[in-house]
Amino acid sequence: MSFDLVLFGGTGDLAWRKLMPALFQAFRHGSLPEGGRIIGVARDDLTDDQYRELIGSRFNAVEGAKRPSPEEFKRFAALLHYLPMDLSQPQDYQRLAQMLKQRDADSLVMYLATAPSLFTQTVQQIAAAGLNGPKTRLVLEKPLGHNLASNRAINHAVAEVLEERQIFRIDHYLGKPSVQNLFAMRFGNALFEPLWRREYIASIEITIAEEVGVEKRGGFYDQTGAMRDMVQNHALQLLCAVAMEPPINAHADALRDEKLKVLRALKPWTPETLGLHAVRGQYVAGTAYGERVAGYLDEPGIDPASRTETFVALRAEIANWRWAGVPFYIRTGKRLASRDARIEVNFRPTPHAIFRAPAGFANKLVINLQPKDGLELHLVAQSQSQRVSTQGGVRAGMAPLAPVQLNLDFDQRFGSERVGAYERLLLDVIEGRLNLFVRSDEQEEAWRWVEPLLESWQTDNGPRPYAAGTWGPSASSAMIARDGNAWSEEH
Ligand code: BG6
Repeated sequence: MSFDLVLFGGTGDLAWRKLMPALFQAFRHGSLPEGGRIIGVARDDLTDDQYRELIGSRFNAVEGAKRPSPEEFKRFAALLHYLPMDLSQPQDYQRLAQMLKQRDADSLVMYLATAPSLFTQTVQQIAAAGLNGPKTRLVLEKPLGHNLASNRAINHAVAEVLEERQIFRIDHYLGKPSVQNLFAMRFGNALFEPLWRREYIASIEITIAEEVGVEKRGGFYDQTGAMRDMVQNHALQLLCAVAMEPPINAHADALRDEKLKVLRALKPWTPETLGLHAVRGQYVAGTAYGERVAGYLDEPGIDPASRTETFVALRAEIANWRWAGVPFYIRTGKRLASRDARIEVNFRPTPHAIFRAPAGFANKLVINLQPKDGLELHLVAQSQSQRVSTQGGVRAGMAPLAPVQLNLDFDQRFGSERVGAYERLLLDVIEGRLNLFVRSDEQEEAWRWVEPLLESWQTDNGPRPYAAGTWGPSASSAMIARDGNAWSEEH
């Protein structure tokens, strides 16, 4: 199958950090369909060869096994082409159309890795140049819009020129192998489903912690903040994956229908919960990777009076039969104590104790997303090495129970060279599989839920400070402690 992949923003940060490495990996794994062209589009005046050189120089900075050999890069570079374009100029789209027509590939992918403010205009111009035929697939990067109204405006503009089946809204968390495994665990095994409900589960914690700061993306991040950058999309998609009903099959709309139901069932915010169940923070100077690091306000590109949040902790509830009353704690932030993404499912304690177990013990299933990728099941067991004490109130002559874990490490089991998120998602787009992409109604529902919070933050006292290298403001622990719970690292 031949394909043309047009990368708008072809010299930008995303193209460099994620898309080119992913395309190269797909090429190296032999999974990129043969006969493809990757056409970088940007304002810079470059020739094909200059673009290849630019991409090549960037690959030279890659360390370890992911760095291509000169021979390998040469073969990959043969796929790369370049077209200088001013995205506001209709004649430039005509030139693109000419270039694509010569080839008439089976699959035409338009990847918008540009500022979201350019999406509507670019999509309209794509259509005006007649590039919205049935073979076209449009990829839209997040965040799609700044609020519900702007998200709808983009979705509306896109729907005017393309069918929903042609629109691939990317959320790269859905492409992570660990998230694939979450679906596999829930819907490929019969074991968990009967327990996956309010009768057995006391609470669920979703943490996406990053140790990095805003890196070189200050300008973008200061306009965006953790809520729009991580919660509205990645964290809520994880919440859907963990809370959704079993879909009737694995087709895109069956999955997306179930995710949508979860988002619709999220309890709306009230004046009371806005104050009690949401905490936002902003990092000040502290430590990361063992070194002193600057606070957010001193990072390049950040307004020194910025009120943008770099940390969010929320307590959500899903109002349906399966989950009523079960708190879902969501937390994400930059410059936290470590890079750690996980979902913790906390089961209820035994209803009646006949053994002496560690105080407060309850079973827990931990779904490690990154950097570890695997499952941990926390249980108690009787250690054979313990001698039964005849004194000290040991019940029924049994030794106390000790906490133990069943550990499954997917990297060890399947090898750490598995298909990465962007690699997987790019191949899905080229081949037209929509399962791991977000539908417009899901996205709008997620915006609808976060919007009251964003609005309430316009007039509050601003984000709470936390030192870089910690787990966020203490108000986040206080929020969850009100339920008698604690974040995983505090156990
Ligand atoms: C992106 C955000 O969507 O996800 C970044 O814009 C964030 O701010 C990144 O760093 C995290 O992705 P990952 O795959 O490194 O966890």
